[in-house]
Amino acid sequence: MAINALLDEDLPELLLRLGRDHARIAQINAQLAKVSDQLAEADAGLGSQDAQDCQALWDEVADCLEFLKHFADKAHHPLEDRLFDAVLHKGLTPTERHLVFRNLGQHQEIMTLTDALTGYIHRARNGMVIDMPVFVECLDEYLSLQRRHMTFEEMHMFPLLMSRLDNDDWNRFYAELSPQFPTTELEN
Ligand SMILES: [Fe+2]
Repeated sequence: MAINALLDEDLPELLLRLGRDHARIAQINAQLAKVSDQLAEADAGLGSQDAQDCQALWDEVADCLEFLKHFADKAHHPLEDRLFDAVLHKGLTPTERHLVFRNLGQHQEIMTLTDALTGYIHRARNGMVIDMPVFVECLDEYLSLQRRHMTFEEMHMFPLLMSRLDNDDWNRFYAELSPQFPTTELEN
């Protein structure tokens, strides 16, 4: 199930929402990668950025991370976890159960990396020296994990939801979970 199919097909509203969320997360990740390149360039003395430009870049990275923390870690992933938890009670095979638990683990890994990056950014914005190559490596790992994770969900987890949840399930979860995990929009 590719992201385009997720956005175009006549799917349950909750699944469409998850597809839209992935598109938004990918957009923020691309922005993060771009700003990180500029910061690394400045750190190596290769760019034309001055201290004020660098501060603005750190502010932008901080905004992206803050958005991902609230949007992905506190709304999108918990919503998915509730749906994946529900399919665990739908007679899954051992292999399918393994996929669900692997996915839950990835959500935890992503959250841990979000917190680690937030720590680096906090120190940099407060004038402390950070090891820039280590920060860039951590951010690359984060972006790569997010990318692999979303592909994994679109290839395996969303089709699993489609195969095990019927219309009544989807309607019930939509009514129950949408108010608990509302979509967040970026402010700028
Ligand atoms: Fe997801």
